[in-house]
Amino acid sequence: MFKWAKLQGKRDVEKEIMSPNGRIKCIFSLKNSRLYYQVIKDERTIIKNSGLGFSICGEDPLADGLRLVRTMTRKHQEMVKMQWGEDEKIVNNYNEATFYLSESQNKKRIFTIRFRVFDNAVAFRYEIPPQPKFQRITIKEELTEFNMDLNSTAWKIPAYQPDRYEYNYEKCSLFEIEGSVHTPLTIKTPTGYYISIHEAALYNYGSMTIKLNGARKLQSDITPLSDGTKAHLLLPFNSPWRLIMIADSAIELTSNRTMYALNEAPTRDFSWVKPIKFIGIWWAMFVGEYTWAPGERHGATTEHAKEYIDAAVRLGISGLLIEGWNEGWEGDWLENGIDNKFTVATKDFDMDAVSRYAKQNKIELIGHHETVGFVDNYEKQLEDAYNYYVLKGINYIKTGYAGSMMTINGRKEFHHSQLGVNHYQKTIELAAKKHICLDIHEPIKGTGIERTWPNLLSREGARGQEYEGGSLSPSHACFLPYTRLLSGGMDYTNGILDIANSVKRLASTATRQLAYFITIYSGMTMAADRPFIYEERFRDLYKFIRDVPVNFEKTLPIAGEIGEYYIVARKDRSSKDWYVGGVTNESARKFVLNLDFLSDGLYEAMIYSDKDDAHYRENPFGYKITTKHVDKNDSIKIYMAPGGGFAIRLTRVND
Ligand code: NOJ
Ligand code: CA
Repeated sequence: MFKWAKLQGKRDVEKEIMSPNGRIKCIFSLKNSRLYYQVIKDERTIIKNSGLGFSICGEDPLADGLRLVRTMTRKHQEMVKMQWGEDEKIVNNYNEATFYLSESQNKKRIFTIRFRVFDNAVAFRYEIPPQPKFQRITIKEELTEFNMDLNSTAWKIPAYQPDRYEYNYEKCSLFEIEGSVHTPLTIKTPTGYYISIHEAALYNYGSMTIKLNGARKLQSDITPLSDGTKAHLLLPFNSPWRLIMIADSAIELTSNRTMYALNEAPTRDFSWVKPIKFIGIWWAMFVGEYTWAPGERHGATTEHAKEYIDAAVRLGISGLLIEGWNEGWEGDWLENGIDNKFTVATKDFDMDAVSRYAKQNKIELIGHHETVGFVDNYEKQLEDAYNYYVLKGINYIKTGYAGSMMTINGRKEFHHSQLGVNHYQKTIELAAKKHICLDIHEPIKGTGIERTWPNLLSREGARGQEYEGGSLSPSHACFLPYTRLLSGGMDYTNGILDIANSVKRLASTATRQLAYFITIYSGMTMAADRPFIYEERFRDLYKFIRDVPVNFEKTLPIAGEIGEYYIVARKDRSSKDWYVGGVTNESARKFVLNLDFLSDGLYEAMIYSDKDDAHYRENPFGYKITTKHVDKNDSIKIYMAPGGGFAIRLTRVND
C-alpha cells in the first residue's frame, strides 16, 4: 500500500501511495529540497513530476529549502450517504499519506501536504498551521503543477471572461491552451485515459483555473482579487483539494463522485431540505411574451402568478418560480441593478396575496434575487431579504449574478475570486440557518460542498437553454456530462417543448427535452416552458415531465463519448422505477439498450423517442411514444435523430 525509498541526496525521499485496488500510484518526492508528485496508472504515467507549493507576498516561497519531518499513513473505508442527488451512496475508500514539512533554514516554517489515493482519483491539499512569525499571509501564486503530456486532448472553456462559465466547450490539444481555462478540465491522454482536473471543498480561497506556465507545464492559476493577489489568509488554512479524476473511458468518468467524498458531512440537521420540480414565470420573458420589468407585458403580476399557481396544480408540479416581482428591473436592468430592492414588490404584484394563494394550493414559491453582481447592495439587504421570504412562507430562492464582474467593497472582483467565493458561501450559510434552499445562477462552480450544505440544491454555471436561439448546438448537452456536470448538478431549464418558437428556436427535438431530465441532474429542476404548452399542445410528452423524479438512488452511466452522445440510467429513490435518458449531437445514432440493470420482475417501459424522420432543425416534433412490458433479460432498440434524444420510464408492474 505504501512504499518508501531513500534517494541519493542527503534529505531526498520518495514515497509511493497505492490506490486500494493497486492500479493507481501516486509518488511524492522531495528532491534537492523541493516537492514533487507523480501519478501513474497501470504503470503508465498520467502526471509527470509536478511541483508543489506557494509563493507568498513579502515572504520566501513555501516551496523550497524543505525537509520531511514526519509521515503519517492511513487507510480509510467508508460509504458516504448523500441526502439527495444522483447517488445515495458514494464510496470513500482511499489510502492517505500526510507529509509534514519544514524549512531547514530561516523561519523554519512548517506545513503539511495530505494525499489521498482512490481507485478512481488522486487528491491532495495543503494545510498551513499558524506559527509565531507566520499568522496572516497573502498568496501570490499557487505553484501546483499538473505536468501532463501536452499532446493530450482537452475540452475547455476560457476563464476570466465576461460571461463567466457560460461558454461553448472547445476541443483542443493541451499545447494549444492559451490563457487560463476553468475546471473541471477534462483531458484524454495519448495512452487513452480520461482525466479531469478539478478541486473539492473550495472555501475562502480563489477558484482554481489552469494555465500553461513558462515551463510549458499545466499549473494552477488561482483567480485573482482586484489587488492582484490570490488570497488573504488568516492561518490555519486548509487549501481546497486538488482533484485528479481518472477513468478508463469517457463514460466511466461521468460517474466519478470523489469530489463529494472529499467534502465533510453536514454538521447540522438538513432533513427539511427537499429537491423540487417547478415551473416558472420565466420562459415567457425569453420569448418576448412577458417582460421582467413592469409595463403592459409585465410577467410577475398578481394575476399571472395566480394563473401559474392554478396551472401548477393542474400540472401536478410542486413549485413556481416568479422572476421580475421586485423593484429594479426597469430600463437596462443589467446596468441599473445597482440598487435592486429585494423586499419591495412592484405595484402590480401583491406578494401577500400571491404567497397566500400558493399556500392554499400547496404550491411552493421559488423566490428570485437577481443581484446583477452588485454584491454590496445584496449583502446590505441579505438578512432582510431572506426574512422577507421566510415570512411569506417561501423556502426556495433562485439567485443570479448576471454582470461580467461582481462589485464587492466598491471594487470590481471576479465572481470566482476569494471574495466571490466568500459571498456565495455567506448566502448558503445564511440560507441554511433560515431553512432556505438555493438554486444559484451565475454561481461559483461546484466543488461538492452540497454534501456539507445540502440546502444548496442546484446551480447553473454553464450555458443553459437560455442560450438557445442560435448560440447552442446539439453537441453542447453532449459535452456537459463529461465536463461541467463532473462538478455537480445543473439547472439547465429543461423541457422546453415550444421548439419552433420564432424568437427562440431550439436546437433540439421534442423528446430530447425529456431526456434532459435524466441526462442533466438538478436538485431544483425546472420544467421551463409556459404551462399552456404542456396543457394544450403536449399533454402526452408532459406526462414524462410530471412523472420523472428529482432524487435518485443510483446512477448508471451506460454509454457515450465526449461531445457526441450520452446515455444514462437512474433509479428513483422512492420507488423501484428506473429512468433512462440519452442525447446525441448532430449525428443520428442507433443503440441497443440492455436492461440488465433492472431487478427481477416485470416493468412497463414507456419509451419517448425520435421517429426515423425526426431532425432538430427540419422536423423537431417527429416523435413517438410506445409502451411495452420488459424484464431484465430484454433490450430496447433506440434511435436518436440528429440533435435528438430519448427518455424511458420503467415502472415496476405488480408491486
Ligand atoms: C440569468 C439567469 O441564468 C436566468 O435564469 C435569469 O432569468 C436571468 N439571469 C435574469 O435574472
Ligand atoms: Ca445564466
